[in-house]
Amino acid sequence: MLETPLDLLLEKFEHVDLIDVVHPKSVQAEVRRHPKRERVRLLEVDLNLISAESFKGLYGNYDFAVSANLLSQLPFVLGQNMRKNKIAEEEISRFAADLQNQHLQFLRSLVPKFLCYSDFEMHVLDKNAQIIEMAPTVSAQVPIRWQSTWMWELAPAPELSRNYSVHLKVGAASI
Ligand SMILES: C[S@@+](CC[C@H](N)C(=O)[O-])C[C@H]1O[C@@H](n2cnc3c(N)ncnc32)[C@H](O)[C@@H]1O
Repeated sequence: MLETPLDLLLEKFEHVDLIDVVHPKSVQAEVRRHPKRERVRLLEVDLNLISAESFKGLYGNYDFAVSANLLSQLPFVLGQNMRKNKIAEEEISRFAADLQNQHLQFLRSLVPKFLCYSDFEMHVLDKNAQIIEMAPTVSAQVPIRWQSTWMWELAPAPELSRNYSVHLKVGAASI
């Protein structure tokens, strides 16, 4: 509900299911207050742990899906935990690629058409706006061709540090 235009989706679709591993109380309250709330369902599902077939069995069939700022996030916390447990970076990268590929496969099996947008590169910039570090947030092993890209100034200095800013490169693909 930060970047997802619920009203626009409700103009185009009869029913909208919002899916997240956890819906914060603020989101639950916003949906409860919404005039078209009967057409909106909040589903709490760990998308790393469910197949499209099980999903359809539980919740029904869908005409369209939007994967909204999710692809980079699917392996994020798990990857951090693996790092804390001193698991090799190579293995973490492989694991991240597997989860991200699995998500695209999930969407392909769930719906005939979907839109996926996600950050896919993190840039750290110094005070002179020079890139001093760059890291992928979506694995290079994920075969997705972004049709449109833009920069998201996630944490301009001094939000995280006086010395650097963090920007994310975001891509969107209609598949
Ligand atoms: C950047 S937020 C985007 C939130 C929302 N989709 C939007 O567009 O406003 C990333 C979201 O991914 C969710 N997420 C992370 N791992 C997930 C998983 N395994 N299954 C479902 N949601 C997950 C987080 O809970 C978080 O709300």
